[in-house]
Amino acid sequence: MVNLGDVFPNFKAQSTIGEIELHSFLGDKWGILFSHPADYTPVCTTELGKVAKLAPEFTKRNFKMLAVSCDNVEDHLGWIKDIQAYNCLEGEFPFPIIADEKRELAVKLGMLDPEEKDAAGMPLTARAVFIIGPDKKLKLSILYPATTGRNFDEVLRVIDSLQLTAEKKVATPADWQAGGNCMVLPSIPSAEAKQMFPDHKVHEVPSGKQYLRTTPCPK
Ligand code: BEZ
Repeated sequence: MVNLGDVFPNFKAQSTIGEIELHSFLGDKWGILFSHPADYTPVCTTELGKVAKLAPEFTKRNFKMLAVSCDNVEDHLGWIKDIQAYNCLEGEFPFPIIADEKRELAVKLGMLDPEEKDAAGMPLTARAVFIIGPDKKLKLSILYPATTGRNFDEVLRVIDSLQLTAEKKVATPADWQAGGNCMVLPSIPSAEAKQMFPDHKVHEVPSGKQYLRTTPCPK
């Protein structure tokens, strides 16, 4: 189990582009590691196609992408052809898929879904997403069961918030989209807030407490 703020465990694993060591694979970039229950499964086929289509968006945000599924490299390579055919994709697949046949990574990273088993009765990997910062620390994790596909547009939205709030002393409200108004962090005293965010607005509420402070999105 990795907690927010922990240095993400470094590991070596076989993948569709050969052996990968996570930390050197990421270099000084942000990383997204996302897991899949098994190869040749329908929901995963849609998810990997969606992420492949969004690859330029991840690259634009200075990300390296890495998938993991609990089958071997040969299966992954065959499955990529299906993913590309089903999702109308051509050319080189834009990110590697790690082979985690023995569920070693799934166990290490707390990704097993006890409710879903393969034909041999082995638990499958759930749908985890880990976002790793350039400092190699875990910035966000989500875990969905095998039966629920993820929304990767939402993952990109969250990344925009993570990258903004890593730099600026703001937080992003419900349903925020890149460029939208932000909240001044509650920890910023009023005098400092006036200097840092001259256009911020303090919203009046029945409690009289001045904690709802909105500001245009800082550049
Ligand atoms: C799927 O990817 O479609 C899937 C995999 C395991 C359990 C349920 C669905």
